[in-house]
Amino acid sequence: MRKKIVAGNWKMNKTLQEANTLASEVLAMVNDEVKGDVKVIFCTPFPYLQSVKTIVGNNNRISVAAQNCSEHESGAYTGETSAAMLKSMDIPYVILGHSERRQYFGEDGKLLAKKVDVALKNGLAPIFCCGEVLEIREKGTHEQLVKQQVEESLFHLSADDLKKVVVAYEPVWAIGTGKTATAQQAQEMHAVIRKHIAGKYGQPTADEITILYGGSVNAANAKELFANPDVDGGLVGGASLKSREFTEIVKSI
Ligand code: 13P
Repeated sequence: MRKKIVAGNWKMNKTLQEANTLASEVLAMVNDEVKGDVKVIFCTPFPYLQSVKTIVGNNNRISVAAQNCSEHESGAYTGETSAAMLKSMDIPYVILGHSERRQYFGEDGKLLAKKVDVALKNGLAPIFCCGEVLEIREKGTHEQLVKQQVEESLFHLSADDLKKVVVAYEPVWAIGTGKTATAQQAQEMHAVIRKHIAGKYGQPTADEITILYGGSVNAANAKELFANPDVDGGLVGGASLKSREFTEIVKSI
């Protein structure tokens, strides 16, 4: 059975003190109120990983993730953070290929394939993001583009490695805009992604891949989105910065 996951992508927000408060509040609420087998992930800025990890402690429901890592193993790359560094801190997940990284930092499919490899080699599970901009959706080529993004960066992997990857479909037009994909649009694309994976790796492997939806998920729309058979949870931006709202999203699964 594939995992249900609700991950909060804090992006470049919060001071250390605010981040600690957010983590403590969500931790308490999740411990008290969440019963099912959902996994919760805090994707924090690099400087807060250790501190948030300490707050979370030994918790088998909540994990901490980084938002990026270098494609290089180590060396003279000032300002970068390697997968090996994250692994040495016992960080289990790393977001790769977020649309903000693609858009503002020029990350493309080939580079992301390298990042995926270096993450897996160091024992980190990538949360691999894909998704189309509005123009592409309006042209009607969104399915083709998302399949290509998945193919370019993941299809060189063995089935065993692919099973370690969490895919996140995040339509760029829905990120931070308050405009969510409808439950039907999300389900359609998730089914396309799963079918594409099945075409290459077979249905049993495809059925094991967790596919998250991201883009203006909030406490009011999460239930409907998560009710879809191919939507295995969410990657939440803005709403993950508010402890009560994020907890309600976790409870929607
Ligand atoms: P919002 O939930 O703020 O739209 O952000 C989504 C996102 O980019 C998560 O990675």
